[in-house]
Parts: sequence; structure tokens; C-alpha cells
Amino acid sequence: MFLSLFQTFRDAKDHSSFLISTRYSVKMNTTTSTQPTPKTFAIGGDLTVNRLGYGAMRLTGQPSNFGPYADWEGGKALLRRAVELGVNFIDTAEAYGPGDNEDIIADALSPYTKNLVVATKGGIFKPAPGNIQADASPDNLRRGIEGSLQRLKLEKIDLYQLHRPDPKVPFAKSVQTLAALQQAGKVRHIGLSNVTLEQLKEAQGIVSIASVQNRFSLSDRTHKATLDYCTEQNIAFIPHGSLGANPLKRGTPLTEAKGMILEIAQQHDASTTQIALAWLLHRAPNIILIPGTTTVAHLEDNMKASSITLSESEVSQISQLA
Ligand SMILES: NC(=O)c1ccc[n+]([C@@H]2O[C@H](COP(=O)([O-])OP(=O)(O)OC[C@H]3O[C@@H](n4cnc5c(N)ncnc54)[C@H](OP(=O)(O)O)[C@@H]3O)[C@@H](O)[C@H]2O)c1
Repeated sequence: MFLSLFQTFRDAKDHSSFLISTRYSVKMNTTTSTQPTPKTFAIGGDLTVNRLGYGAMRLTGQPSNFGPYADWEGGKALLRRAVELGVNFIDTAEAYGPGDNEDIIADALSPYTKNLVVATKGGIFKPAPGNIQADASPDNLRRGIEGSLQRLKLEKIDLYQLHRPDPKVPFAKSVQTLAALQQAGKVRHIGLSNVTLEQLKEAQGIVSIASVQNRFSLSDRTHKATLDYCTEQNIAFIPHGSLGANPLKRGTPLTEAKGMILEIAQQHDASTTQIALAWLLHRAPNIILIPGTTTVAHLEDNMKASSITLSESEVSQISQLA
């Protein structure tokens, strides 16, 4: 969908400058500015983090995010640079490696500074590259959290997320297990990932849910209703693939974006990737971003997105794209 969307704009620009200049040009109406976006969000009401975080998944062996990251010292330097630049929310999962991604985070950053939140996920069985299966059984969640605590060198995980519902296990049973782990003091806040709105509501009937991590970006708004519900409920929404990337392929199609997105980027002297991130920060105050990258240059580029203030017109034009 994404590529065709931008292809449409590229084609429109090539073949119909009228369409671009009347419907999609941003130059005519950019005087009204929105307020700068809030810089922080309090997960679960008490865990305040900067809204521009970092997704560490790609600091793993390739292909398939399997095994240890080849440039271990480079990965550690990148994680430290992220923290230096103000990142205090890092997303990982047992499945990334498995285990190796949590290892590199601990190796780079532990003992952690007081305000650094490392959020992880459990409920996946990944025995080989390309073989990734849900296992959100109580046994696997209990086993998983012990491993994450050990690898991350933590006594309690600030935000523990169910990686994805397991069709073989009643969803309520997985959530009840997370609630029991919270009761046992191993987890501060519980999050869900890759859930439907109905599953989120079902989980809320069991325990307080602090976050939802579903795929969402300028180019994929499938989970818009879930995002809007999270905004109403003050639940953190942590979009994965915020740059519209294929998780198993390096790079983002956004670097090729043309048409309106490129025009807006040029007006702000920014990259199209920065505009995609800035739009998400404007989209809702409960969004926490975790763009992934393996390069310090891209990390630094992404971090600048939080200083871009889009006009109301730009936000609404991008919002109307989908
Ligand atoms: N819950 C889930 O099921 C799930 C699934 C997937 C991901 N996630 C989480 O979401 C995080 C982000 O996901 P993701 O890494 O797949 O997708 P993403 O953030 O949409 O995009 C990352 C890709 O974009 C490239 N990139 C990043 N910044 C760039 C820039 N400024 N200019 C050009 N290219 C840039 C990166 O390549 P370079 O390395 O070359 O910069 C990387 O390949 C993961 O780390 C993980 O924590 C969760």
C-alpha cells in the first residue's frame, strides 16, 4: 500500500502538476502552527519517558534478527549515543536474537541510569531464523520473564509486553499470567503488542494495561481505532514500524517519498523520515516512538524529529493521506 501511495504522488507530480498544486501543495497554507508537541509521556501514569525512544531489534544477527549482532561494539556505541541524545525508552524483546538483543542492551547500558526504561516482550518461541511462533502459554511467559530479568540484569521489568496473542492459548489466560507476574513483583507495568481493540478491552477487564505496541505509521494506519482508544484511555501507544519498514529488510521506503511528504520535508529543511516521525508525535500525545536503526547518522537524524513543529495544515494534510 505504501509504495503505491507514494507512486501515486510521484506519478501525479509527473503527469498533473495541477493536482499537486491544488490538492497536495503545502505552500499555500502553512501559517498556522500547532503547539510544540509534548516531549514526554507517563506510561501507566507514573513512568515518564521521552516520546522519542529507540527500537533495538535490528541490533541482532541478520537475516531474520537471529543471533548476536555482528558489530557488537558498534551496537553498544550506538545504544550509548542514543542515551546521550536523550533516549530513555528502549524497546526490545526476548525474541530478538533470541536473547542476544537484551544481552547487548545490558552490556552497553547496565547499570542503568535511574530514568532509563528498557521495555521488553515475551510470548514467542524462535528456535531458528525464519521460524517464529507465538507461545503465550503461562509456562513460556513465566520462563521468558526469568530469562529477560537475568539478561537485562534487572530485578523488575518496567514495562513487560505480551509480544503477540497466541491462538493456541486463551487470551485471558496469557493476560492473567502477566497479572500474576506483576503481583509477584517482577513487572511494573503490563503492555500488549499486536492486539485487536477487542483483545485490548478484554485484557483491561483483567488487569490495568499501560501500553499497546501495534504497527502504525504514516503509511499503515490499520490500527487507527486502537490508537484512538488508547489516546482516550491514556494508554501509551508505541507504534512499531514507525518508518514503515519491513522488519526483515533493511531500510525504509520513506526515503523515496515524493509529492506532499517531500514538499513538507523541504519546507522544514528536514528529511522525509523526520516528517514521518514528527507527524506521529503530532498525531497523539500518548504516542511513544521507537524507530529502529543500525547507524549513528540515522539515529541522530531521527532524534531531530522532536524539534519539528508541523503546522495544523500540514498535520491535517498528512492525516488525510490514508
Ligand atoms: N511488536 C512487534 O511485533 C514488533 C515488530 C517489529 C518491530 N518492533 C519494534 O519496533 C522497532 C522499530 O521497527 P523496525 O526497525 O522494524 O522499523 P522502522 O523503525 O520502521 O524502520 C527501521 C529501518 O529504517 C531504516 N532507517 C531508520 N532511520 C532512518 C533514517 N533516518 N534514514 C533512512 N533510513 C532509516 C533503518 O535502516 P538503518 O539501519 O540503515 O538505519 C531500518 O532498517 C524495533 O526495533 C522493535 O523494537 C516490534
